[in-house]
Amino acid sequence: EQFPSTGSGSGSNRTQDRGDLSELARATGFENAADTDPSLAANRSWGRRILSLVGPNNRIGIDTIDAARVTDSGVLDEVIHSVREAGRRWGAQPGAERAAVLRRAALALEANRDRLIEVMATETGKTIAEGDPEVSEAIDFANYYAARAEELDHVDGAVFVPSALTVVTPPWNFPVAIPAGSVLSALAAGSGVIIKQAPQARRSAAVLLEALWESGIPRDLLALVDIDEGDLSRQLIAHKSVDRVILTGAYETAKLFRSWRRDLDLLAETSGKNAIVVTPAADLDLAVADIVKSAFGHAGQKCSAASLVILVGSAARSERFHRQLVDAVSSLRVGYASDPLTEMGPLIEPAEGKLLEGLTTLGPGEKWLVEPVRRSSDGRLWTPGVREGVLPASTFHTTEYFGPVLGIMHASTLEQAVEYQNGTDYGLTAGLHSLDAAEIEQWLATVEAGNLYVNRGITGAIVQRQPFGGWKRSAVGAGAKAGGPNYLVHLGSWTTEEGEP
Ligand code: SER
Repeated sequence: EQFPSTGSGSGSNRTQDRGDLSELARATGFENAADTDPSLAANRSWGRRILSLVGPNNRIGIDTIDAARVTDSGVLDEVIHSVREAGRRWGAQPGAERAAVLRRAALALEANRDRLIEVMATETGKTIAEGDPEVSEAIDFANYYAARAEELDHVDGAVFVPSALTVVTPPWNFPVAIPAGSVLSALAAGSGVIIKQAPQARRSAAVLLEALWESGIPRDLLALVDIDEGDLSRQLIAHKSVDRVILTGAYETAKLFRSWRRDLDLLAETSGKNAIVVTPAADLDLAVADIVKSAFGHAGQKCSAASLVILVGSAARSERFHRQLVDAVSSLRVGYASDPLTEMGPLIEPAEGKLLEGLTTLGPGEKWLVEPVRRSSDGRLWTPGVREGVLPASTFHTTEYFGPVLGIMHASTLEQAVEYQNGTDYGLTAGLHSLDAAEIEQWLATVEAGNLYVNRGITGAIVQRQPFGGWKRSAVGAGAKAGGPNYLVHLGSWTTEEGEP
């Protein structure tokens, strides 16, 4: 099924939502969110002061993280029990009351904007230019899910039954927006939440949770756990009292979770290998700017990032395109996020394994247009790389690298380009640059990905305007899209008004 294109030529979303719940959502008018809503934080202008407070590590001075330290199964059971009980009480309240709490959370996030940007920069190397809209996204999630929670009270002929306990396992790369979105959606749907943050982003989670707790979300309803990877983590995910797990991370992690508990109700947004197609009918200046931002924003460490560009026909021979791309990529200012002028920050960890190969080793037929160079002895700072001549079905074509390296492929026709674009196991984001209406139509009808973008970059989905989620190995579970109309309906169960299941 397909929801209407959102935005004036700037984006389109398909949903992978399946079954009757989508019908239900449609009946409630969930999908008719306004296209440009001035209340979206994402629509606010960027004119904030450049932060002067970003400094060396841990400037905001978090020494102890206010998390439940889970050291054995007994402590785990206690946390699960108390959050579940709080979840039951919370879920018994009308959606409108939960919505009021979420709206206060939005205000608290805005009040903590600087702290959140700073902790993301110092802990995970996210630049200020990337951290600022990330806080806006978290605020938008709070307001958006608040509105959807109110609607859950008014569905004709069906009653929404909240779950008592949701476990959220967010990634380190969007340490504010993704945990905020997952946590707030579950709370909006009336569930208690245990959040297990990725170890690389523990301080960011702590600042986020402090803001949410201060806004009035009870600590026993929303618990942050500090738990070692390994058996206790497995016990948490596989626990019979956990109703649902919301995971954002690698496809392999989703598979692992499923192997721990076969009947796990898992809502997972997973990996991507995303491409932007550029045809001879493209505005090349715009294409280059969007490619650079999509490929090298946050040093390419986004599931949504552009990892491939597929040039169609004469675009493959465009000297202007190549010159502009090389200039733009080579002039990106690489550094640490503590420098406000940094355009591309560091890797979260030293490049090794697959990523190191992607930064250093060419496949058959490939050559460097811009060769990546290691800039720091710790292996975390790299200049961005662009390789040309990536062959269909080659390693670079099909592998997710999660770092600052882009590959260029050549296709003779748009049809062939879409074949290459679809020719991976994943289907998260996909882009097209073309000013030709017939090409756009052809592309929209044949491309396989959750989020489709026309003449726009392929990262930075905006809540409500571009609900975010994937196809194929980019999603596991219901395939509901975060920040979209059908998300909350998957976070509980439904009965008829007579109480029949
Ligand atoms: N939602 C992010 C984006 O669109 C990725 O998680 O870039």
